[in-house]
Amino acid sequence: MLYKLKELENDARSTIEGAKDLEELKSIKVQYLGKKGELTGILRSLGSVPAEERPVIGQKANALRQELERAVELKEKSLKDLQRQDIWEEERIDVTLPGRPAAIGQRHPLTMIIDEIKDIFTGLGFQLAYGPDIETDYYNFEALNIPADHPARDMQDSFYITEQYLLRTHTSPVQIRSMEKQAPKLPVRIICLGKVYRRDDDATHSPMFHQCEGLVVDRDITFADLKGTLDLFAREMFGPDQRVRFRPSFFPFTEPSAEVDISCIMCGGKGCRTCSYTGWLEILGSGMVHPRVLEIAGYNPGEVTGFAFGMGIERIAMLKYGIGDLRLFFSNDLRFLKQFS
Ligand code: PHE
Repeated sequence: MLYKLKELENDARSTIEGAKDLEELKSIKVQYLGKKGELTGILRSLGSVPAEERPVIGQKANALRQELERAVELKEKSLKDLQRQDIWEEERIDVTLPGRPAAIGQRHPLTMIIDEIKDIFTGLGFQLAYGPDIETDYYNFEALNIPADHPARDMQDSFYITEQYLLRTHTSPVQIRSMEKQAPKLPVRIICLGKVYRRDDDATHSPMFHQCEGLVVDRDITFADLKGTLDLFAREMFGPDQRVRFRPSFFPFTEPSAEVDISCIMCGGKGCRTCSYTGWLEILGSGMVHPRVLEIAGYNPGEVTGFAFGMGIERIAMLKYGIGDLRLFFSNDLRFLKQFS
């Protein structure tokens, strides 16, 4: 009997050691240690052993059971480690592989122009101001000296939300909002860059576009300050040789009013297709703030004066980059947008 146990031990140990995977190990365990296993069989046949040998053999058999269980456990652990190693080999990260380049975005050409305009005017001491895109009839028209029946409203065919509310047709309502906010403190020196909306849609007009509004109110502000400011702006924006010209015009909220042209960037003023052979390109509207507007917004027109201007940002970008169709800015074509990096 003892000999049989010894033989079983040798047998079992080498089989366990030879197990190739967890599956095989499991069936080996059943084979030796299971309910119908070989070792269990020996224990069961203990009855046929002479009574005096029984305790010794019983003890040995039980000790062997424990040892074999332990051997199975150890083997199981080492097989699991191997398996993990395999997975690791398979999924190993190759740190020497060149990385995939991350695509770096860039600013939209209009954002580039907006940032440039901000730089120029904040450098002159202007502060950034903002107003809502959905504006009241009062701020968009009424407070700017454009009464309900004024023909100037026809120039800005609007998107109305209700009779009271509309999408702002220009950034000029921010003039009123800025003055109201700080009246009667001086000076007012703001620019507002933002979206405006009109019912236009062709190669040079979009129903949504951007404007930059400027407003300065202080004691002794004159038309010369307006000219000097815009002259400097044109040279900063388009180059040191840029000239500006002021043409008399009309806006209900400025008096006197002027349209401002810059010398044509394509031909330098000689005359070409872009400037319709005039040598000049219109870029903005401007003027001295109307006394009524100053008063409505909380300033005394007997004490202070001011100038204001408003320009289309798309127009500036088209001129600066030589773009023929304004709709390109909003069609999200990467072939177009990538040209501005
Ligand atoms: N708001 C005017 C427009 O959109 C431009 C303007 C602004 C004119 C400020 C004068 C002063 O046409």
